[in-house]
Amino acid sequence: MNGLYHLGERSAREVEALVARALELRSGAAPRRFDGKALGLLFFNPSLRTQASFQRAAGKLGLDLVQLQGGAGGVWGIECEDGAVMDGANAEHVREAAPVLGRFVDVLCIRAFAGIKSLESDLRDPLLNGFRRFAGVPVVNMESALWHPCQALADWATLDQYGIPQRAKFVLTWAWHPKPLPQAVPNSTLTMAAQRGMEVVLLRPRGYDLHPTVIENARSLAARSGGSLTITDDRASALAGASAVYAKSWASLDTWGDLEAETQQRAPLRDWCVSAEWMRQTSHARFLHCLPVRRNVVVRDEVLDGPWSVVVDQAENRLHAQTALLETVFTALERTPRVRSQARPSLEIQP
Ligand code: CP
Repeated sequence: MNGLYHLGERSAREVEALVARALELRSGAAPRRFDGKALGLLFFNPSLRTQASFQRAAGKLGLDLVQLQGGAGGVWGIECEDGAVMDGANAEHVREAAPVLGRFVDVLCIRAFAGIKSLESDLRDPLLNGFRRFAGVPVVNMESALWHPCQALADWATLDQYGIPQRAKFVLTWAWHPKPLPQAVPNSTLTMAAQRGMEVVLLRPRGYDLHPTVIENARSLAARSGGSLTITDDRASALAGASAVYAKSWASLDTWGDLEAETQQRAPLRDWCVSAEWMRQTSHARFLHCLPVRRNVVVRDEVLDGPWSVVVDQAENRLHAQTALLETVFTALERTPRVRSQARPSLEIQP
């Protein structure tokens, strides 16, 4: 496995093998060790779970760790545009930064969120794809503008851990939040549930659709795995019979980059906050969220502190899923020591 950009680029069988290994590791199996090999972690955005779980996974696998932060006091500002005249804030081009880091580490993990300023730019996922293009080593996506595949891998493991059947009803619901947020998590959640073969329901108010390419891709994955995808704003019908409710807020594509318009658009939607009353309409569903979560904004205390929530197990599974993933990537590297470019994601999103 030559890195990981998004889950949909892998077959369901490959993902199932990773999830099975994650659950073995969770049960105490010993991971392989790759002493003398090195893992790079480069964060352009904040993190609690991803940072801690990748650091711990590196330790379990015997890897040296090179961890760097973007932003003030961290690495130089990195330019991604080809042909840029670099007389602005960015001091270094990804054409140098990526291969230089690739000389120091064997696998490079990058976090670079959507800027939510330009939809055209965010849909190109420029930092992740820049590093994939030029690093010369496998790149793992720790959440990019478009995808959060390590979260989705852990989510799949959590569904298996709780015995939620493959064909069960899975509701991904939009929730209100004071700020417009990226779509990487809902894109990956939808992809994961479709790939797992679930009866997937995307519950969102009008104006909060995910990108048509993501929807089309999820439909095709669902068709291949025997699942389905329905999109609705009818809460009662969505929740009826559900075995899993996954909440997340995301920005509207209609007003992307226009904070005032987005704020106005979501102002009447504050009741999109998951409560016990929502959960009681389900079939004893588990409640999932990638965290961090704003209590009593996205979801009420009564849900997070009640019998439905599995969010802490979900977070723990980041460690096991990423240990399984890195073990697979480093094992594959033993057969093919260097990669040249991973410039072509299997799902190109066009603006
Ligand atoms: N879910 C997740 O990626 O958490 P962090 O942003 O804290 O890493």
